[in-house]
Amino acid sequence: MILDNRLFFSATQRNKGCIGDVLSRIIKKNRSILEIGSGSGEHGVFFQKRFPEIIWQTTDPDLLHRKSITSWIEYEKLNKIMPQPLELDVENTPWKIPLKLTSSIQGIVSINMIHVAKWNCTISLFKGAGELLKKGQFLIIYGPFKIGNKHISQSNYLFDNALKIQNDCWGIRNIEEVSNEAKKAGFSQEDIIRMPANNFSIIYRKVVF
Ligand SMILES: C[S@@+](CC[C@H](N)C(=O)[O-])C[C@H]1O[C@@H](n2cnc3c(N)ncnc32)[C@H](O)[C@@H]1O
Repeated sequence: MILDNRLFFSATQRNKGCIGDVLSRIIKKNRSILEIGSGSGEHGVFFQKRFPEIIWQTTDPDLLHRKSITSWIEYEKLNKIMPQPLELDVENTPWKIPLKLTSSIQGIVSINMIHVAKWNCTISLFKGAGELLKKGQFLIIYGPFKIGNKHISQSNYLFDNALKIQNDCWGIRNIEEVSNEAKKAGFSQEDIIRMPANNFSIIYRKVVF
């Protein structure tokens, strides 16, 4: 008997289409993508189905999330093309990535991770990505951000407060500070795309070897 451990994260249903549209402008066929903090796995299976010519590698440090991802892969009958999730905590650098993935990777995607993790996870995300990626490869992050240290909407302000009540190390990050960490790790900020519901997709490109 196969256990159904699928989790359902409501935001994924709302944002997967528009994030997919951003990815469609960037990604190349026949190369892999590493997703950091994949959560339920709903994004992973959706993108694997939308971009069948690539390999989508999910990861998460949380066992329940990895079980959910496995169930989603099973449910969508993607076992033959999509790898099982890896256990990856961004703070454990250098990341342990299978050689096959290291040699086929084209970029990294992380959705709604950095505001529900401590600030050091943002620093580690860029550090780990900088160690793994080569010049020209991309890192895309999606989520809510402050600009000039100011919230862009009342709803983001309220969300930020709610995050901090859950965990005082969490919170919506300031775009300039995030991009400063990216720069330290060898990335340039290529594009900032305004997304629905007061979110952004930020595309970083590795500019040094
Ligand atoms: C709000 S959920 C978002 C999940 C999914 N990306 C989505 O958009 O539905 C945040 C995810 O980040 C993961 N996460 C938290 N801390 C992390 C860390 N240190 N390294 C990697 N992932 C982390 C959590 O386990 C969780 O799956």
